[in-house]
Amino acid sequence: MRNCLSILILAVLSFCASPSAWANESPETIAIIGTGNVGGALGTRWAAQGHRIIYGSRTPDAEPVQALVAEGGENTSAAGTHEAAQAADIIVLAVPWTATEATVAALGDVAGKIIIDPINASRFVEGRIEIGHPALAEAIAGWAPGAQVVKALNTTSYTNMANPPADRTITVPLAGDSDEAKARVARLVRALGLAVRDVGPLYNARYLEAMGNLYIYVNVMQQPDTRLEYSF
Ligand SMILES: NC(=O)c1ccc[n+]([C@@H]2O[C@H](COP(=O)([O-])OP(=O)(O)OC[C@H]3O[C@@H](n4cnc5c(N)ncnc54)[C@H](OP(=O)(O)O)[C@@H]3O)[C@@H](O)[C@H]2O)c1
Repeated sequence: MRNCLSILILAVLSFCASPSAWANESPETIAIIGTGNVGGALGTRWAAQGHRIIYGSRTPDAEPVQALVAEGGENTSAAGTHEAAQAADIIVLAVPWTATEATVAALGDVAGKIIIDPINASRFVEGRIEIGHPALAEAIAGWAPGAQVVKALNTTSYTNMANPPADRTITVPLAGDSDEAKARVARLVRALGLAVRDVGPLYNARYLEAMGNLYIYVNVMQQPDTRLEYSF
């Protein structure tokens, strides 16, 4: 009897400790704009945890996008960028930095929604990385009036989002002006198996954008044979 009780308690504890258990308590509706490395990794993980995922794509009917939808199962669909954004409460901009302004324009009215910005504006020039925009997250906030922008997930790789390492903790800094928005984003990031650190207002996103470029330099340009060894 005592053994059965112990097993039951262990089962309940391990359920409560698993990211998916928490995520399922209040599923979010998330539009993931961009169906590449980052979009696919986040959409697949969060769909598996019970969140509703709508991929926003330039080509929602294309085979690679439909493959992501199939992988996500019943919680996942795909639509054009505008339709996906309008149907969601949280929008992830998983697009190249050069496409950011046009992508935000395509979202339409996003007042009251949360925008997660993992973008690194990286310009590769003769062995160094130049910053393509001095403060991209703040620019996004200007292009999306009324939305709460949270800079997150730009300082680690999509592989760590898909499959975080078991032997160390990856910490994801979050910058944004709304504590409520940061708390909702933090819950999603923790559910990936990553830790979070609130680093203050959206103004500080510019420093995360610089960190992101340094991360890329160290892991991709400086360490071509040991990719993604370093993370913050
Ligand atoms: N790769 C990483 O490990 C990593 C880590 C942290 C942050 N980031 C940042 O996350 C963002 C996405 O990175 P990623 O590696 O997922 O990029 P990616 O594999 O190239 O995917 C980008 C996606 O954006 C969409 N897109 C919209 N407009 C586009 C355009 N004009 N040109 C090309 N694609 C366009 C495309 O999806 P549709 O064809 O469906 O529209 C495309 O699949 C980038 O800003 C990057 O800096 C990347």
